[in-house]
Amino acid sequence: MKNVKKSTELLYASDATGGVDHSPESLPIYQTTAFTSRSLDEVQERYRLVDSEGMYSYYRSSNPNRASVAHSMSFLEGGEASLTCSSGMAAICGTLMTLLDKGDHIVYSNCCYGETLEIMTERFEHWGIDVSAVNINDLDEVKKALRPDTKIIYTEVVANPLMRVADIDTLAEWAHERGGYLIVDNTFTTPFAIRPIEHGADIVINSMTKFLNGHSDACAGSITASEEMIKKLDPMIQHFGTPADPFTSWLVTRSLKTAELRIAKQMSNAAKLAKALEKNPHVVSVSHPCIESFPDHGTAVKLWGEGKDEEMCGMLSITVDSEDYDKRNEFVKSLQFVRYAPTLGGVRTTFQQPVFSSHAHMPDAERRAMGITPGMFRISVGIEDPDDLINEFNNALKAFD
Ligand SMILES: Cc1ncc(COP(=O)(O)O)c(C=O)c1O
Repeated sequence: MKNVKKSTELLYASDATGGVDHSPESLPIYQTTAFTSRSLDEVQERYRLVDSEGMYSYYRSSNPNRASVAHSMSFLEGGEASLTCSSGMAAICGTLMTLLDKGDHIVYSNCCYGETLEIMTERFEHWGIDVSAVNINDLDEVKKALRPDTKIIYTEVVANPLMRVADIDTLAEWAHERGGYLIVDNTFTTPFAIRPIEHGADIVINSMTKFLNGHSDACAGSITASEEMIKKLDPMIQHFGTPADPFTSWLVTRSLKTAELRIAKQMSNAAKLAKALEKNPHVVSVSHPCIESFPDHGTAVKLWGEGKDEEMCGMLSITVDSEDYDKRNEFVKSLQFVRYAPTLGGVRTTFQQPVFSSHAHMPDAERRAMGITPGMFRISVGIEDPDDLINEFNNALKAFD
């Protein structure tokens, strides 16, 4: 499209899907396991062109609904090509298992999603892959862990649950100096806050289960990279049977059309809520990149520039001044509409306590060393009125009086 803004183009990005009728205003769901052929010539043509637009063969290898999500994600992330997977974890595992062989070295952030950390230590280490966990915010530590043959640096842009911000420009430079790749999980930030490929990342992964789908009704993941890299990664996703199914893909295509509106409001609400809760006497710390006293505020300004507080991230964490179970329970019960949910990114604000959900299996001392205490609440901010949200939390925090 020419002379239009990105928000307009996004609405039509999925129309690049070939071999389908685009006259229905919403792409129909191609709930079919196969596409049939009427001649042997056509069979051969389908197999030859199965990866290119307009030729579909077997459900697991290609499907129009899945292709429509991939087109939107390539557009959003600014990559050449994308894959649509059955979950964020399918995207992460499929990527890493394709690229890592026995003896290869990966340096990864120790502040990633729990199951990402589990595959590093409980799978890759046993398979003879050299894994080095680092505090990705300490660039001296990262530099020390890097080897001349390091193949992958892996990080999230803003990481769970402490909202630590990674300097992805520097990490990309260091990965490339060694002929390696920087892989970035953009789930918390989304391409509406940052496009890691523009900062040098080679592969960008999103759990679309979260902000990108945003309606808490579908589980999906995406991988965006160069055309050559996507061709390399596609077989592993197919071998494990983890491409996204047609209905889920249809739900995500629907959601991506409103993603910019939703996520802009979520990010703006999160910054407003973070700044308001910082003033609450029961809140001892607020983790959000816009908060000036937050340790990675400087890195956030480097990534986003000045004055972008409301365009960074829809997530925040607060730590309250008491670890008393009854008071925390009273706080949870005092919330009128915000509920506990072990997920994030939906249009309704939810929260969780890392000690009960994402970091429940970690020993308390280890969690505390990371800054995760029983007083920490991770909040995923929705599209409610921001004043209602601020009142909701300030009222419930009276439980700690
Ligand atoms: C940052 C991040 N990456 C990846 C995942 C995994 O996504 P999924 O649940 O879609 O597999 C999650 C899940 O919460 C996450 O928070």
